[in-house]
Amino acid sequence: MNYASELREELRELAEQNLYRRLRDVRIIDASRAIVDGREVILLCSNDYLGLSSNKEVIDHAISKMSSISQCSSRLIAGNDPALIELENELAKHKVKDRALVYPTGYMACLAIAALADEHSIIYSDELNHASIIDACRLCKASIKVFKHNDVANLRELLTSSSSPSPSSPSSSSSSSTTTNSRRGCSSRRRIVVTEGVFSMDGDMARLDEIGRLCREYDAMLVVDDAHGDFIYGKNHRGTAEHMGAEHDVDVVISSMSKALGCFGGYVAGSNDMIEYLINRSRTFIYTSALPALFARAALKALKIVRDGIIEHEGKMIRVHDRLIANTRILRDALAEKGFNLKGSTHIIPVLIGDEKVAIDFANMLFEHGVFAQAVRYPTVAKGSARIRLSVTALHDEHMLKHVVDVFSMVGKELNLI
Ligand SMILES: Cc1ncc(COP(=O)(O)O)c(C=O)c1O
Repeated sequence: MNYASELREELRELAEQNLYRRLRDVRIIDASRAIVDGREVILLCSNDYLGLSSNKEVIDHAISKMSSISQCSSRLIAGNDPALIELENELAKHKVKDRALVYPTGYMACLAIAALADEHSIIYSDELNHASIIDACRLCKASIKVFKHNDVANLRELLTSSSSPSPSSPSSSSSSSTTTNSRRGCSSRRRIVVTEGVFSMDGDMARLDEIGRLCREYDAMLVVDDAHGDFIYGKNHRGTAEHMGAEHDVDVVISSMSKALGCFGGYVAGSNDMIEYLINRSRTFIYTSALPALFARAALKALKIVRDGIIEHEGKMIRVHDRLIANTRILRDALAEKGFNLKGSTHIIPVLIGDEKVAIDFANMLFEHGVFAQAVRYPTVAKGSARIRLSVTALHDEHMLKHVVDVFSMVGKELNLI
């Protein structure tokens, strides 16, 4: 068998298991509408939760001072445009941390976790954490302990059972003094607890208040990937930790600017020392090109809009956060009332289907009736827990949501789900 037929065979198996993925032609109109494969549909799978990506003010500001497409260099060489520094200062203020560090994507910002852990470290990772966190765990030499989803008691058990003697104690066989990557002079194992803020596929929030207290008790570093809660939740829209009153217990915040901020790129916020350390150690910061300044300028403008909370859309002024929360409630209540099994509590609304084939049929039938949402399947979620993942935004209006609920109801009945 040559490699091409091996690949074809694997793809055939994926198709057989209803796990095949294919690309579609998607032309975004705004966060609530798109033309997909030539047909205009209500978009329910954008991460542009506040509708800022198509905002004219953001676009105009981003291109106003544009003199090049990209810096074509890494940050430590010639890529450190002042717009990135200005953005980092604003993101640090936004997160109430000493400093922030911008990465080209949120995925790469998550891989910073790998730089924080050495072979003596233990990472405690929520079982539903995003692939970018899982990849960070795979990239480093730390021991990985997976705790049950959002289960604080299970996390405590793992923290307690792994209270081992320090690796540098005489009884320990491993030595930290010989490896270049080890934490010299450090006498205890570093423990890092990592969780998402709003879980991307389940739409629930991490119990950051309790997890934060536990981390203090066990002297563990708490890292939160708040890609989906940042710029939305909390009184000042600083994210899930603010919403939970747990900001002071979070040591490192990781986030994406390609979701509620409607822009592109990722960032890490933390202490001065943490950021200096990442500048010197984080391979996804060092060995790649800088985020183009264009995106930094867009993010600066979008951040200002997040603070003000108001945009103009189709001639009307919209309070984006209020609209997003209201739309979330309308869609969740209506779908639950129809009898669908929903997970979570946020603007990410997973409608549980179960079987992969039924989920694909469901998504195809939604599309036939003008609603575009994805069937999320294994390996993104566990086998047999396929779901239609809806993400509502501030730009959806009542008529759109009513149409979505009517179509869901019709398809749900046709497939004997409700
Ligand atoms: C929880 C979570 N973390 C990180 C990322 C990666 O962010 P980005 O799209 O900016 O690379 C995603 C993207 O979907 C995500 O859902």
